[in-house]
Amino acid sequence: MKNIAVFASGTGSNFEQIVTRGISGARISLLVTDKICNALTIAHRHAIPAVTFERKDFETKTAMEEAIIRVLEERRIDLIVLAGYMRLLSPPFVHRYENRIINIHPSLLPLYKGKHAIQQALEDGRKLYGVTVHYVNEGMDDGQIIEQVRVVYDGLDIEQLESRVHEAEYELYTRVIQHLVDQEATT
Ligand code: GRF
Repeated sequence: MKNIAVFASGTGSNFEQIVTRGISGARISLLVTDKICNALTIAHRHAIPAVTFERKDFETKTAMEEAIIRVLEERRIDLIVLAGYMRLLSPPFVHRYENRIINIHPSLLPLYKGKHAIQQALEDGRKLYGVTVHYVNEGMDDGQIIEQVRVVYDGLDIEQLESRVHEAEYELYTRVIQHLVDQEATT
């Protein structure tokens, strides 16, 4: 049984979808957040252990990341799933978990990195949107792409567009995580 940690900073809807859809051969063993946020409520509801590491409680980012790593090691975490975690992980952390950290981003990367990706694409008058799951490196929304899905949308309603993109995220993220867990089981 593989152990997965989800990192989140906000709503946590991807986190909840991964939990409720389920990953066979793995359990969501831990939620890590960088602040008090709704994702913690979801963890509580599903009886998933959760820890919050706030930057202000540590002298350096390195000290904070070392504390996170200690918890990940205690819990024997195999895969780290970033789901709306709004912090860049530094090189030592990324190297410690090389190819075992993934992220989801609501655009067809390399287009529209960073925050407000959906809004920017809409403002550019796009009709083709999408979602990317990629391995995490030191960059923002960078790293090798694992899979992308396209979302075609011809309207102007940002809420409707966001909800379509999020639906695509839930399906894609669960599928990619399952695939990575299955792959690990056979290697
Ligand atoms: C998602 O759109 C994800 O792609 C991005 O941050 C958002 C997180 O949403 N990285 P939620 O917290 O999972 O609802």
